[in-house]
Amino acid sequence: MSIISDDKDFGTERRNPVIKPETIETDKNFENSIRPKTFETYIGQQALKETLKISIAAAKKRAQSLDHLLFYGPPGLGKTTLAGVIAAQMGVDIKITSAPALERPRDIIGILMSLKGGEILFIDEIHRLNKVAEEILYPAMEDFILDMTTGKSQTVKTMRIPLPKFTLIGATTKAGELSGPLRDRFGIIHRLEFYTEEELSKVINRTAGILNIDIDEQGALAIAKRSRGTPRIANRLVKRVSDFAIVKYEGRITEEIANEALDLLRIDEYGLDTTDRTLLKLIIEKYDGGPVGIETIAAAIGEDVRTIEDVCEPFLLQAGLLQRTPRGRKVSAAAYRHLGYKSHAALEQKSLF
Ligand code: ADE
Repeated sequence: MSIISDDKDFGTERRNPVIKPETIETDKNFENSIRPKTFETYIGQQALKETLKISIAAAKKRAQSLDHLLFYGPPGLGKTTLAGVIAAQMGVDIKITSAPALERPRDIIGILMSLKGGEILFIDEIHRLNKVAEEILYPAMEDFILDMTTGKSQTVKTMRIPLPKFTLIGATTKAGELSGPLRDRFGIIHRLEFYTEEELSKVINRTAGILNIDIDEQGALAIAKRSRGTPRIANRLVKRVSDFAIVKYEGRITEEIANEALDLLRIDEYGLDTTDRTLLKLIIEKYDGGPVGIETIAAAIGEDVRTIEDVCEPFLLQAGLLQRTPRGRKVSAAAYRHLGYKSHAALEQKSLF
């Protein structure tokens, strides 16, 4: 069995932050500065864009607010960006928050009461809203009413406060964890898809242009190939490769320069980093290719279950390297090949003789 040598022992190396699809605090300014503001500059998600353009045109024609929208799909695919584009197209302001910031009733009440007519409220990670916040949201979404209770037991009073018509855009990586009643209150529910290499190349060219970096077609494609179908990762890689190119190659990115920089970041030709490879190698070497439970994997590689489920797995599943079965995770023959092992079937056959 051949074992690729670049990774350390299981659990000793942390995930490369460059290819985490979640937002990294220090990258927020960069991300905000390159966000597209129009449907024309927002690349990919073609079917969704067409649906949204029609909904926006209809809402404008009727002089009404847009229906509440729910976007779901893996992190980094542009849900927040799209909400910003919708607000710009509607010509309204957007307030952006996330469910963990709405822990106390007064958090959600405060934000609802601050909304003006037609405005968009964007709630990220909406599957993490607590029950109380959800209950406040139902009449607000349905009838634009805020039901407030004051006082205690005997003297409890309910006040119904009218709210201006607003649009809620919810985003989640876990549509399955949303409660039924909340899900039912969204007029439009849409899944965001991973991007093709061609679409990512366009995102990369656009970002390189903003950064004033000279990139050729093959250079953009080389970065696109390792971006895990995710524009947030593509943008981060452009930034890192640009830094490398500025220091070593007078700010020019070709295929060779991109590959040299990405190799240095230990991001392989599938876009996998050391954590992904460690996870797959663990299942192959210690669990005979699986199936093995997610808790066992998490403990062995020193990551938490949520990170594995939300960050590593969506792409490994999509790339066909990992499979989810009722008895746990299994690696595919493609994963054996990619990591330089003989396939499971070949190993089994060998052991017969
Ligand atoms: N940056 C992040 N997502 C993008 C997209 N869909 N189009 C253009 N630039 C982006």
